[in-house]
Amino acid sequence: MFAKKKKGDCIMKAIVVTDQDAGLSGMKLVELPEPPVAINDVIVQVYAASITGDELTWPPTWTDRNDRPRTPSVPGHELAGVVTALGYGTTGLSVGQRVFGLQDWYRNGSLAEYVAIEARNLAPLPDDVDFNDGTALVMPGLTAWQGLFNHGRLEAGQRVVVHGAAGIVGSMAVQLARDAGAYVIGTGRAAHREAALGFGANEFVDLNALESIDKVDLVFDVFGGDTAKRSLGIINTGGKFVSISGWNEEQVEGVYNIDFVVEADRAQLIEIAKRFREGRLKTNKGQVVTLANAIATYNSTDRANGKTIVRVRR
Ligand SMILES: NC(=O)c1ccc[n+]([C@@H]2O[C@H](COP(=O)([O-])OP(=O)(O)OC[C@H]3O[C@@H](n4cnc5c(N)ncnc54)[C@H](OP(=O)(O)O)[C@@H]3O)[C@@H](O)[C@H]2O)c1
Repeated sequence: MFAKKKKGDCIMKAIVVTDQDAGLSGMKLVELPEPPVAINDVIVQVYAASITGDELTWPPTWTDRNDRPRTPSVPGHELAGVVTALGYGTTGLSVGQRVFGLQDWYRNGSLAEYVAIEARNLAPLPDDVDFNDGTALVMPGLTAWQGLFNHGRLEAGQRVVVHGAAGIVGSMAVQLARDAGAYVIGTGRAAHREAALGFGANEFVDLNALESIDKVDLVFDVFGGDTAKRSLGIINTGGKFVSISGWNEEQVEGVYNIDFVVEADRAQLIEIAKRFREGRLKTNKGQVVTLANAIATYNSTDRANGKTIVRVRR
């Protein structure tokens, strides 16, 4: 099944972006050589990937770490699939193993039939977790986990506000915080109340009424801007403001304030998959599209509701 192939002798389908100025109009489904397996990497045959809508605005989609152009580049950083080859120095994985994980921002991504990825960015995907759920868990799960526990140091009994509680990351944060024994106040638009409560928020507060919330120990922010600024006023002295929005513009004495970018973490992915299997965590999936249809999804003006899954292989 996994016959050894020579470098460059196989062709795969992949979506590429070529020109930052052209944006989406430069996005194409093409044939590329399958990636070779390098030191510390594994090759994964991608079964399911996920779309992050604003990825085309990120510098690493277009340049390498030295700011040199790296196009054509393959978008997509979340994936679930099967390992087909192991590079020298990889640990903890085997050929034929189901895996899921987060690709480095500066490398070709998962909107392709095969991806070369560092083994440490992957975790085993249990047999009873579907590939679509596997990929849907990756970035939202890791982001929520790292925001709540690594940066937020959330503890049982604490009060936490989760902004965008019905959204992709927010819904994971609500579930993980509640599961950890926190009192969770979800925010969003009034129309999000039922969804946020359905993900396990103890209460829901319309974002317009943010100031009505009694002081909390942690705010998990996905918005930045004015909402972030207003949130600083509802945090206890000694509390924390953790944002994933890129907003870090104001400090309040006595409140720890951090903005962070999610990173791959095998141990955390294993914990996330465990909670999913135990029914303690559910995914917030949107539409499921094929690789051929994924470009139309990026182009769509419709508001994506839930994580868009690209089913690359049946
Ligand atoms: N730093 C990191 O590592 C990291 C990782 C992941 C994501 N992110 C960023 O985090 C942000 C959230 O991502 P996501 O995937 O969770 O997005 P999402 O699914 O769109 O979630 C945002 C939620 O907030 C709601 N919302 C948006 N604007 C609102 C407003 N003005 N008032 C009230 N509710 C509002 C949205 O509702 P509607 O759908 O009705 O608008 C949605 O329910 C994005 O900017 C993303 O790029 C950062």
